[in-house]
Amino acid sequence: MLTEVEVAEQLPVNLFEFEAIAAKRIPKQAFDYFSSGANDEITLRENRNAFERISLYPRMLRDVDRRDLCVTLLTGQRISMPIMIAPMAFQKMAHPDGELATIEAANNAETIMVLSTLSTCSIEEVAARAQGNLWFQLYVYRDKAITESLVKRAEVAGCKALVLTVDSPLLGRREQDVRNGFHLPAGLTCSNLVDSKLNAMPLHAGDSGLAAYIHALYDQSLTWKDVEWLKSITTMPILLKGILRADDAELAIKHGAAGIIVSNHGGRQLDTVPATISVLRKIADTVAGRVELYLDGGVRRGTDVLKALALGAKAVLLGRPVLWGLGQGGRAGVELALALLQSEFELAMILSGCATLSDITRDLVEQ
Ligand code: GLV
Repeated sequence: MLTEVEVAEQLPVNLFEFEAIAAKRIPKQAFDYFSSGANDEITLRENRNAFERISLYPRMLRDVDRRDLCVTLLTGQRISMPIMIAPMAFQKMAHPDGELATIEAANNAETIMVLSTLSTCSIEEVAARAQGNLWFQLYVYRDKAITESLVKRAEVAGCKALVLTVDSPLLGRREQDVRNGFHLPAGLTCSNLVDSKLNAMPLHAGDSGLAAYIHALYDQSLTWKDVEWLKSITTMPILLKGILRADDAELAIKHGAAGIIVSNHGGRQLDTVPATISVLRKIADTVAGRVELYLDGGVRRGTDVLKALALGAKAVLLGRPVLWGLGQGGRAGVELALALLQSEFELAMILSGCATLSDITRDLVEQ
């Protein structure tokens, strides 16, 4: 929790300022891991730059006195705003309360948290604090029994959707992690994986321990057929996270995905892929409402949320700023980050003549 003095001294007024404060609070190895993109970080920067290049064309005199930001998702869940929490690994590296603080902030904001396979609190621990607002992000292990057990545990714990990450047969090369020989700090574990060999993150000079872990354990032979296999073992709807092409979106629908998260993994996987906001329009046109579309990558401003919705997203997922809030003030810090983005988004709606989410149409970004 932030003390009053800290709040007075440090209350950030936008999400960028959260990062600067977090950089002073989160240990360097962890901060580097969270903040890095792959290689030259071109995609990481482009995620922001592309949002900034889009202009808004607001409508005037439209009675925006009463606003409604709520949205109902494919799972039937109704959330208070079209902003959810993206899956992010190892949250105890940002704050000792880790994912438990994040789910409580999600409860407070009445939104969804997507829990990472690589969480430092277990599915069951986080689900016990959730209010029916947890989704589970899946990495597929070579050993199908491990994958199956993660899926079953998520379902039994009450997760409402399964988010399959499709852009990570191996880990992108994040050079700062290589320099740091990134590994989980002593005392932290991948809490969903009780077997010690699934927890050993090798300490290699000159490599990221996580990259080595993924190389050893994740299934690099994953194909569209595995989406069907996952469908056969769970009743949770499956969303595919990491789609960047319209033809892959078409395949996702063909193989039974219930939703698509347009994502480049926060610029952390293949460098030089386009910003997610740049590819959203084309994917939305192809999908044409057949499944729900979500977007993450570089969302920092309320206007970014507006632009993503105008271009076809049902909601956006917020990533790093949640970790910066966590590092700064645990649950209170995450709540602050979410509240800030929500109020910026509401103001952006008001100033562009939108009282409800259905008023957010494509002509707001195209003239
Ligand atoms: C883990 O999911 C990562 O992208 O670092």
